[in-house]
Amino acid sequence: MEINCTEKDLLILNKVATAAEVLGVETYLIGGFVRDKILGRSTKDADIVCAGDGIELARTAAKLFDPAPHMNYFKNFGTAHIKVNLSGNEVFDLEFVGARKESYNFNSRKPAVEPGTLEDDQKRRDFTINALAISLNKTDHGKLIDPFDGLKDLENKIIRTPLDPLQTFSDDPLRMMRAIRFATQLGFTIEERTLQAIKDDAHRINIISQERITDELNKIVASSKPSVGFDLLYKTGLLQIIFPQMVELVGAEYKEGHGHKDNFYHTLQVLDNLSQASDDLWLRWSAVLHDIAKPATKKFEDGHGWTFHGHEVVGGRMVPKIFGKLKLPQNEKMRFVRKMVEMHLRPISLTKENITDSAIRRLLFDAGEDFESLMMLCEADITSKNKQKVKRYLENFQFVRQRCKEVEENDHVRNWQPPIDGEKIMELFGLPPSKPVGILKNALKDAILDGDIPNSYAAAYDFLLSKAGEMGLKPINS
Ligand code: CTP
Repeated sequence: MEINCTEKDLLILNKVATAAEVLGVETYLIGGFVRDKILGRSTKDADIVCAGDGIELARTAAKLFDPAPHMNYFKNFGTAHIKVNLSGNEVFDLEFVGARKESYNFNSRKPAVEPGTLEDDQKRRDFTINALAISLNKTDHGKLIDPFDGLKDLENKIIRTPLDPLQTFSDDPLRMMRAIRFATQLGFTIEERTLQAIKDDAHRINIISQERITDELNKIVASSKPSVGFDLLYKTGLLQIIFPQMVELVGAEYKEGHGHKDNFYHTLQVLDNLSQASDDLWLRWSAVLHDIAKPATKKFEDGHGWTFHGHEVVGGRMVPKIFGKLKLPQNEKMRFVRKMVEMHLRPISLTKENITDSAIRRLLFDAGEDFESLMMLCEADITSKNKQKVKRYLENFQFVRQRCKEVEENDHVRNWQPPIDGEKIMELFGLPPSKPVGILKNALKDAILDGDIPNSYAAAYDFLLSKAGEMGLKPINS
């Protein structure tokens, strides 16, 4: 089988082939490397399987590199890993394993391992497209070994398990998520029996660690059309188990002639729209979560219709809880997503006529360095099927962008800080960190953003003296 290897790939793989020859052990390339090479996708790691001791093969191969790379190995699993450093800080990971028959314990992922043939090893893999092997042996170098018609499935864009899908999934339930992730990343279809088995076995995802589940979820969010993955997760019943808040968005309700849109499919459309504009994983998570509190805030107001008042604030509060449950990072990434969810309606409110400079300044100040991300989210949030409406809404946002550009050029608000900060306020009035400090700080910020006082130290100082006086506070040096 001709696969399109780069010079670097060949350099590395030839060393593995040499090591295999020295040890006299049958050795094959297998898994994602073979799949991706045939598909013409980029690769930066390769799995090697041999009918013998994988650790010994890795050790022998490592010695052929100069300098010899460090090897990690797991004796219990018979696996080894070497990281080959290439020129220009590039690295290439090689994973070695001895071919094995494997059966998993039903209630955990810990496998019981026995040595086996190449075909035994191919059988225990997740999908036919990941079970393709290419020989690195002198006698038949480059030969494709494909007992499960993986090549045909690659051509027909099919995800299918090599064995009965219930067996393959019961060996490792994470594979149900992997099936959906590959279908999303590669634009493949999950074969009917395989899909049915995911529906039947969805509950078994519960034995998988949250970190591994979230890893797959992130790969779906990072793909070019994430809606495919979320829709499959929903239709197989997996989403209900791993992310129930999202399932609550499903459905449109009608009452007294008033309907609201299906917020699940709206969210997926926003996510796809945004994914065309940005690769930023966290901005994409903002799209996933922007309307997450609509079910919690939904009300029917007589004569008026459905409302979701405050869903952006309640949604913002849900972000840390959802990040906690999904074991997503509890750091500035989470704060960014929360900020985007909380602010996602702000630019819309500025699309009306007669918007003051002070309203524009306030948006620029609050969004700060995330202004562009926020505008991208808002533009992605337009999901009307009416082309005229979409055009009008986009023009409105263009107008907001233009106003923001003009105000920013004049006032430089985006990275602006008031001339007197909280520390200085405490010092001036001899205050400990406390509520009055926050009140004074906000009042000063508002006064400058509203254009009531100039943006200077002297004006800020006078303003604070008078405001503090109203609150019964005096500067300590008076
Ligand atoms: N594999 C498996 N079951 C799993 C995980 C992996 O059978 N739960 C097998 C597959 O043959 C897979 C190979 O191990 O191709 C390597 O796994 P991994 O590196 O996780 O996936 P890749 O297929 O290389 O794809 P990606 O790098 O996109 O995850």
